[in-house]
Order: sequence, then C-alpha cells, then structure tokens
Amino acid sequence: MEHETTRYKVEVPLLGSLILTHSLEGKVPGLKDYPKDQRAPSPVVFFSFRIMVALGMLMAVLGVYSLWLRWRGRLCSDVLLQRFALLMAPAGFIAMLCGWVTTEVGRQPYTVYGLLRTAESASPVAAGSIASTLVVFVIVYFIVFASGISILLRGFAQEPHAGEAGPDAHAPQRAASMQAAVSGTAATGITGKES
Ligand code: HEM
Repeated sequence: MEHETTRYKVEVPLLGSLILTHSLEGKVPGLKDYPKDQRAPSPVVFFSFRIMVALGMLMAVLGVYSLWLRWRGRLCSDVLLQRFALLMAPAGFIAMLCGWVTTEVGRQPYTVYGLLRTAESASPVAAGSIASTLVVFVIVYFIVFASGISILLRGFAQEPHAGEAGPDAHAPQRAASMQAAVSGTAATGITGKES
C-alpha cells in the first residue's frame, strides 16, 4: 500500500470496465483515485476476497465431483471424495467470515460509505467495558457450545437397541436413500423393517 504497487499482477485489458460499466470505454476508479486517508487496507481485502472465492470454487468442484461419482456408481465408496468432503466441512463458515471481512474492511474508513466515518460512529464506551463484555460472551458461548456438543456426542455414542420398534407404518417415510439408488437395489423407501 505504501508503494502503491501491485506485485505479480495479471492484467486483462478492458474486462473490468466491461463487467462493471457494461461498456469498453467505462472508467473504473482505482485506489489511487482516492485520497490516502480514504483507502481501505487493500491487503486484507485482497486475501479475504480470494480465500472466499477459492472456497466457493472448491465447493463447486466438490459438487461436480460427487455428481460424476454418482453417475459412475461410486458416490458412497470413493475415499478421495470422503476425505475432500471432510476437509471442506469448515469451508462454508470460513468463506462466510472472509466475505464479511471483505465487506466490512472494504468500506473502511466509512461505516456508511461516503457519509459516516467509522471514527465518528464509534460509541463512547470505554475499552475496559467492551473487553469485559467480550470476555462474558466468550465464557457464555463456551458453556453453551460445550453443553450442546456433549449432548450430541452422548446421543451419537448410543447404538441402536436390538428389537427396537421400527418406524410407524402410517407416519411419513423418508424417501429412498441415494445408496439404494446408486447400488441398484430395489428402492422401497421404507427402512427399519428388519426386526
Ligand atoms: C464463488 C465465488 C464467490 C464470489 C465471486 C463471491 C463474491 C462476493 C462479493 C463480490 C461480495 C461483496 C463484497 C463487497 O461488499 O464488496 C461478497 C460478500 C460476501 N460473501 Fe462471497 N463470493 C463467493 C463465494 C462465497 C461463499 C462460498 C460464501 C459463504 C459460504 C460467501 C459469503 C459471503 C458473505 C457472508 C459476504 C458478506 C455479505 C455482506 O456482509 O454484505 N461468498 N462475496
């Protein structure tokens, strides 16, 4: 930012003006067109935006790969898909945080773009009060999440009991599982009738 240079840039002439102004002659103001005190910290926005988009692309790849495997009949047995899906588990959360950082940091130094500066909109609350509220939030969330997770884990640890009653025949049934469709077995749509 200090040197106002972009290293390793890849330039595509005219594309930016075509996308943003729908004209080849359109002008898209760059950072240098703004006074220094009105520029957002571009390294943060640069990386948060790219991490978000990269994760979005990887989600699309995961979806297309799983469709392809389903077509090939290997959806439920492909180890690479399982590892990929497991690794991608936090992707939505990380992409969402990066999108949020992109938006919030990207409009600095304004809270309301062009109208209200962040410095003017900060509430006159002492840093100590904010810090103590934050600590209370962290403690409460730790208690809430730890309780929730421990309840879930206890539920997961329980195996199905032998002789357990099957689902009520008159209750709405879950549709045939994808596994049945993929492995070519008759999809009855009714499970749990073994006992
Ligand atoms: C696939 C490629 C993606 C593209 C091209 C894209 C593009 C964008 C753009 C242009 C913005 C607005 C930034 C601004 O305010 O200037 C944005 C914001 C955001 N994006 Fe993405 N995004 C992508 C993927 C994702 C994914 C996968 C998620 C989450 C799962 C996500 C979550 C968000 C969120 C939460 C915001 C902030 C919204 C707000 O506070 O107004 N994005 N994204």
